[in-house]
Amino acid sequence: MTTTDLSYVPRSLVHAADGSVTFDGVDLAGLAARYGTPTWAISASQLEHNYRTLQTALSRRLAKPVIAYSMKANNNRAVVQTMAGLGAALDCSSEYELALAMASGVPADRVIINGNGKSPTYLTTVVRMGVWQINVDSMAEVNRLESIAQRLGARVRCAVRLKLSYGRLLENDPSYERTLRVAEGKFGSSVESGDAEAVVRAIMASKHLEFVGLSHHAGFPGYRADFTAERQLMHQTLCAQEIVDFAHLLRDQVGIFPQRINVGGGLRSGRSVYLSSPGNGTDGEFRALPRPEDYADAVAAGLAKADWEPVVQFETGGFHVADAVILLTSVQDVKDVTRPRERRYVTLDSAMTMFTGRGLNRVGHPLVAVGHRPDARTHPTPTELVGPTCAYDSIAEDIGLPDVQEGDLLALMNQGAYCEVLSTQFNALPRPAVVYLKDGDARLVRRRETLADIWARESAILDLWPEGAGA
Ligand SMILES: Cc1ncc(COP(=O)(O)O)c(C=O)c1O
Repeated sequence: MTTTDLSYVPRSLVHAADGSVTFDGVDLAGLAARYGTPTWAISASQLEHNYRTLQTALSRRLAKPVIAYSMKANNNRAVVQTMAGLGAALDCSSEYELALAMASGVPADRVIINGNGKSPTYLTTVVRMGVWQINVDSMAEVNRLESIAQRLGARVRCAVRLKLSYGRLLENDPSYERTLRVAEGKFGSSVESGDAEAVVRAIMASKHLEFVGLSHHAGFPGYRADFTAERQLMHQTLCAQEIVDFAHLLRDQVGIFPQRINVGGGLRSGRSVYLSSPGNGTDGEFRALPRPEDYADAVAAGLAKADWEPVVQFETGGFHVADAVILLTSVQDVKDVTRPRERRYVTLDSAMTMFTGRGLNRVGHPLVAVGHRPDARTHPTPTELVGPTCAYDSIAEDIGLPDVQEGDLLALMNQGAYCEVLSTQFNALPRPAVVYLKDGDARLVRRRETLADIWARESAILDLWPEGAGA
């Protein structure tokens, strides 16, 4: 049986000896009574703690680090505003994210623009706004950007998104080929083929474009069965080294070098990931996550040979929000079965549609039973937490839980990264409310969806079945 890693609870969550639980100083039983369940709760203090921890780790090792919060991980405006207020720049990956960023009051000159296949409307908007930097994906994009900038009489700061050769990485770890094939295919311009250099030259040849840097995103590999922190860190170091090598080559052959190096994101808050085969229920295993200090060391080691002092941009997303959000959810049903094996099924009012499973399974100590003492005895039957949708909808398998009853409240942790943004309305389930907590206060920042929201985009109810046709 899988044991839960009890070593990690976000510092904003306190489970008192009497069983009561607070998150950012707010009592969770009271919060559920006021806003209902399921509800996502964001801790402002945890966001702040995560940002400062990473900022400190980076500034101890690098002269000019900049964190650009990658808003795809969680685009709630309260989160975006908090991150901007802390001093973070912002990484946007679509025109819609950009619109949300603007609506949150983030100045355009703090925004990095990412994405492949950026539409002409998107490019026109960013050129008009005068963003901090566009990470240009391809030669075709340079051409589109050039004609838009020329038409608008604007000058645009461009970094070139690289598809590295990964030669050294694959030498160290040939198994990485599978990941690269999947993750790297569509992004950036290839260093190996000479495309990246051609893109840099085209930017330099333009009166309207300015070459400012090189970018790369190694990503979070914590979903791979062979994930280890060491492997991830080795990847970060070797990618940063390859960017530096390419920068030196540009200086020698093209006569320019990047003032900015963008190493993407890929870090998570928490202490470990939980890897298992879904539906197996017995093969789960915790693996340690890299700490922010290790990550900063790895990137700094990769940049050590740079003989200039670049601004180093980090587009971290998941790290800031992962453990800063919980999902408050109620037990709807408890069912004990003996076949095909002895199991207790605890059905919640939250579901995989809220993307709970992946978040929950990723980091140690995934949940707290509110109102049950921290030392409460675990119910002897292995428990599966499931959602109410018609899919298997497993949220956690083979876990230990106290003897919970219908109506009990659970706080599922680590629900901040890629949960709400990937949530759906499968089975016409409305999405939860979102509340923002800070030092004992709670504010509703996104109301719960209603059925009316679910059909809000429909324009007419069609009279497809004339009376009697279906009889
Ligand atoms: C270009 C880019 N930057 C940053 C990120 C954020 O990554 P993470 O949330 O793992 O830090 C992503 C995520 O996919 C990305 O594609």
